Amino acid sequence: MGYWTRIITEHQAVNEMLQIQNELLNRLKMAKGVNIVHLGNLLSFWRDFLEQEHMSWEEEVAFAFFRKINHPLVDGLQRDHERIRNSLAGLEGTIKLLRQGKPHSGREYVRLGEEFAETMAGHLTRENAAFKELAAMSGEDLASLKYPLPTGFRRQKLIGVFSVAEDMCQEYLEKQCTLPDWLEESTPEPAEAEKSDRLEEPELLEATTGTGVPAEEDPQPVLEGRSSFPEAGEDTLTGDRE
Ligand SMILES: [Fe+2]
Ligand SMILES: [Fe+2]
Repeated sequence: MGYWTRIITEHQAVNEMLQIQNELLNRLKMAKGVNIVHLGNLLSFWRDFLEQEHMSWEEEVAFAFFRKINHPLVDGLQRDHERIRNSLAGLEGTIKLLRQGKPHSGREYVRLGEEFAETMAGHLTRENAAFKELAAMSGEDLASLKYPLPTGFRRQKLIGVFSVAEDMCQEYLEKQCTLPDWLEESTPEPAEAEKSDRLEEPELLEATTGTGVPAEEDPQPVLEGRSSFPEAGEDTLTGDRE
């Protein structure tokens, strides 16, 4: 799979997760039962895959290339990434309040989630247009663009993230989600020179759960348990758990 094809496929997966998040935010808004574990799973998808993998490599490879050719959109795309990171940090902080049933945390979570979705949707549109334009070009510089496959702990982590994403696609979208091709491939052990140290740094691994704690220590069991929010009234979006 070529570099651009892989990016576009990943954008499809991101789009599907946005649809699921939208469904969950609507339920939260309507004070319907919301599985808070699923909200946490989405945050892990955004942090572990979208931010640490997809966006991070975009900046190192695609944006670096855009800068080299003075592409007019690159600064805007980078600003989008910063906005996305800020929204994500806000969501991660607010889900802790939601879990504690803090007043108005549900409403705040919806606001931040909608802001995140809007930024993401605009960003995907801008990137798809820019990447499509580049994919149509040719040249040695373009042919040499590499998007390294995740290895080791990162790979195992992402396999878990996509497995959970797959379950949520079945439940909320009633279809299989778009998965990266490398999930089907046997584990490649890269040559020493190709190994990326940044993917193995302990401090990075600490920061990959989206909740600020390693997944193994996450008090919320994945895909188990359901939290509901109370019916009607001022406090319906506050996140009080039954
Ligand atoms: Fe992207
Ligand atoms: Fe991006």
